[in-house]
Amino acid sequence: MSNNTKPVYKDESVSLYHCDVLRILHEIPEQEIQAVITSPTYWGKRQFTDDDSEFGCESLEDYIERNVHLYSSLLDRMHTGGSIFIVIQDSFMGSGVSRSHHNHWISGDAYKRNGIDSKKQGNTSSVTAGHRTIKNKSLCGIPYRIALALVDRGYIWRQQIIWQKPNPMPENVQDRTWQSVEYILHFTNASKYKFNKSALMVKGINGNLRLPNQVMTAPPEPKIGHSATFPTRIVEKLLLTVTDENDLVFEPFIGSGTMLQLSLKHGRRFIGCDICQDFVRNAVEIVQSSRLSLLA
Ligand SMILES: C[S@@+](CC[C@H](N)C(=O)[O-])C[C@H]1O[C@@H](n2cnc3c(N)ncnc32)[C@H](O)[C@@H]1O
Repeated sequence: MSNNTKPVYKDESVSLYHCDVLRILHEIPEQEIQAVITSPTYWGKRQFTDDDSEFGCESLEDYIERNVHLYSSLLDRMHTGGSIFIVIQDSFMGSGVSRSHHNHWISGDAYKRNGIDSKKQGNTSSVTAGHRTIKNKSLCGIPYRIALALVDRGYIWRQQIIWQKPNPMPENVQDRTWQSVEYILHFTNASKYKFNKSALMVKGINGNLRLPNQVMTAPPEPKIGHSATFPTRIVEKLLLTVTDENDLVFEPFIGSGTMLQLSLKHGRRFIGCDICQDFVRNAVEIVQSSRLSLLA
């Protein structure tokens, strides 16, 4: 585990941390972050490291509590009128994912190059094995548990966007439909918030522009070493809707760096964190190559 809570990379517009994000909340500047667009590791679905502080490997109750603590702390520290979008999927009790399933996505040299512990990664069966009250096979209601806890603490839950995947991950089940959607929970800390609606507009049937429906379709985008990345097309629109140029974006879970790349592309300042060293190294490379391309 990294004990270093100082940035491993910092320049005038980007800071990158390698640690448990809950350990750097006090480093986040007050009233400066305009947007958080993020996705935690889903509960019991995959593990990217063998670090006990990684989200998704704790009890269900701790997972909810840690997520709620993270987002409520950020909403408190953010700019008034800032937005958080949390991309999250529900889990079934008793259905951890085996390592072979994960290796389907991360294989051979790429798997080794990422340096992630192959003995532990992906083997999350024990995390979801048995619960005091929730029966095996039941959905846990994770997005709702997080959302309702935030609503009860006084934050504004503006929308639940449904990210629909036309080609979801195949599932070996015979008694329910496949999981083909994820939820994008939109929270704000004020009733008036930045919302550049022109960035989101679509053409309605009468040819006039209007705001889109809450169901948005985009295929999953697995990248080498990372099977759980964002739908770039959707989050790019959300970024442009809730931020302006030079605004500060915070990404607690950098992963393959989708938000970092979009922030660089659109001239947003960026603070990011990941517990997995290889993802942070990759993020540093993304920043450095973008700086070099500016010089070329
Ligand atoms: C679902 S992935 C994020 C995907 C990312 N949005 C993308 O587009 O690639 C979750 C990430 O959270 C990181 N993570 C898990 N627990 C963490 C923690 N406690 N602190 C910081 N990062 C963590 C994992 O290493 C993983 O990269």
